[in-house]
Amino acid sequence: MTQDIRILMCAPDHYDVDYVINPWMEGNIHKSSRERAVEQWEKLYGIIKEYATVDLVTPQKGVPDMVFTANAGLVLGDNVVLSRFYHPERQGEEPFFKEWFEENGFTVYELPKDLPFEGAGDALFDREGRWLWAGYGFRSELDSHPYIARWLDTEVLSLRLIDNRFYHLDTCFCPLANGYLLYYPQAFDSYSNRLIEMRVPEERRIIVEEPDAVNFACNAVNINDVVIMNKITHDLEQSITDKGFKVIQTPLTEFLKAGGAAKCLTLRVTEPILDDVHANVTVTSRVIKMEGHLLDSGLMNRALDVVVKEGGSFKVLNFDLGVERQSPSTAEVRISAPSVEVMDDIISLLIDLGAMSLPEKESDANLETVVKAGVSPDDFYVTTIYPTEVRVNGYWERVNNQRMDGAIVIEETEEGFTASCKLLRDLEVGEKVVIGVEGIRTVRSPQSREQRNQTQEFSFMSGGVSSERRVELLVEQIAWEMRHIRDQGGKVAVVAGPVVIHTGGSEHLSRLIRDGYVQCLLGGNAIAVHDMEQSIMGTSLGVDMRKGTPVSGGHRHHLKVINVVRRAGSITDAVNKGLVTKGIMYECVKNNVPFSLAGSIRDDGPLPDTQMDLIKAQEDYSRLLKGTDMIIMLSTMLHSIGVGNMTPSGVKMVCVDINPAVVTKLSDRGSVESVGIVTDVGLFLSLLTQQLDKLTNRYQLSVN
Ligand code: ARG
Repeated sequence: MTQDIRILMCAPDHYDVDYVINPWMEGNIHKSSRERAVEQWEKLYGIIKEYATVDLVTPQKGVPDMVFTANAGLVLGDNVVLSRFYHPERQGEEPFFKEWFEENGFTVYELPKDLPFEGAGDALFDREGRWLWAGYGFRSELDSHPYIARWLDTEVLSLRLIDNRFYHLDTCFCPLANGYLLYYPQAFDSYSNRLIEMRVPEERRIIVEEPDAVNFACNAVNINDVVIMNKITHDLEQSITDKGFKVIQTPLTEFLKAGGAAKCLTLRVTEPILDDVHANVTVTSRVIKMEGHLLDSGLMNRALDVVVKEGGSFKVLNFDLGVERQSPSTAEVRISAPSVEVMDDIISLLIDLGAMSLPEKESDANLETVVKAGVSPDDFYVTTIYPTEVRVNGYWERVNNQRMDGAIVIEETEEGFTASCKLLRDLEVGEKVVIGVEGIRTVRSPQSREQRNQTQEFSFMSGGVSSERRVELLVEQIAWEMRHIRDQGGKVAVVAGPVVIHTGGSEHLSRLIRDGYVQCLLGGNAIAVHDMEQSIMGTSLGVDMRKGTPVSGGHRHHLKVINVVRRAGSITDAVNKGLVTKGIMYECVKNNVPFSLAGSIRDDGPLPDTQMDLIKAQEDYSRLLKGTDMIIMLSTMLHSIGVGNMTPSGVKMVCVDINPAVVTKLSDRGSVESVGIVTDVGLFLSLLTQQLDKLTNRYQLSVN
């Protein structure tokens, strides 16, 4: 007998499914039989009475879920943290439970209003009393955990629930005696699973499979070596008994209709305090400030989504809505995360979005020294395409050479310091690298509605195939933009694949280069080979470009071309010697448009100009891309991705490919400046030259 254990229950006198606040209740309104519920409850009550003393709280009309006493509060010793229900439907239970606790000599702690916490349904002590597992994600708020840790002086381990069928921790997680744990891992996010695995050794973890999980197998009452639960499969019963437990099954189907079973119907009110356990909570929070057109640009939404998706939670402390059309809004949001690690992940994503720290809380960036060349200290801040600022000795500086996937190197100078993005491989011993996310912010210029509407037109993201009219409209805008860039002495880079040649785009791209619309060309071996094959032999991969039919022996053409150029020494030499007389490469040479060809494993030849050392090729690309205003990516996925990685936000990118997946991948960089067009590149280029011609004619007309 273990009558020093007391358990609180509430008879189902008023039990029914009256509303829907969890997925189990859906379709079950008034579908449960009171009679059968009473019978099942009595049976459970009888079983529990054999192992513990059962206290009863008086059931109340109008609060049918009061039978689920697990949600009354969380008890430790003489203290109880009273539940604050998330759903108004259950808030009526709070005063009745409070009264019972007070009458029974407990000290009652009450959480601030609007900070939901659903008691022992969402917080379960390790049965050795070493710590408290606390759930969040659906009913209880992460921010309640620090209160619990403080009031009950215990260590709280926060677990995030991600499957709404398992909305309370006790629906999918049951610590058992001797350090065992019965649980359904899929109900938790990966961070939580890692935490569980760190605390509970593998041989103590009893994994529940879905068929048992949905029958609430984890919702079990454990009293010493007895485990009381709804019906389970034979296999699960076996694995639990194998660990030395006695399993008692009792049907609780009527309560399943409301989303509860054995454990939900009970609250253990005797939880002994261990002397050597003390408050500890890894939940951290910090306040961030956001500024901009938060509502109509969707920034607010996106930021809060990021927080929740990454396993944190938030509280909007204040929101100052910009009332004029032009005026930006500001918001202060407190972010909480179950650990510093998760917080860092959240903050770096928020930095990408343009969320900033509060000025009074600002701190300098943490720096660490490189000790091995080409290797950064761990936890370095990984750069993005967005303009970034770093704070050192109280001053903010803009980061130079902005690009993604680098580290930020700080160099102290006489006037202060400089910051620049560097690739890992370029890091030198002794350099100082920014670690973590402190003292970092990204700069986003708040756009007005007008500006946004303009770019929106420009930033059509291709979800599928672009309609013909849509393509025409986009080409019109791109032509206008290119014309503008050329007139201002700006810079357009073209990244092109050999498909440009196969689809008949060569003459158009050649025109663009000749007419001064292109300031550098990036590609691989293939585009140059096929372009020169066309110019020297009239074929593209052996296919006659005018007739569209294969030429006999044509498959060898491109190798012959490579040979010609190799003999000449370089593409420039081949052009100067009159061996190449037209085409894209010809125009580049004749018009002094620099090009860079990056090699790959599948290249034939290669051409003497093709850079087979990829580090050098990346450097070449990046050098040529400096100061670019617009990049046009034509059917070459890998070169385009490479270019995207080197390019800071703010550079307009146009990506054209017949494959929608490529377009989506390239244009979806989260930057408003990219536009994706799903169409044939040859066609695109022809439309583009037509549009540019139209602009030129219009211009001439207006001049005359
Ligand atoms: N219908 C109740 C609710 O959704 C069921 C509570 C089950 N209790 C529990 N500890 N899991 O709140």
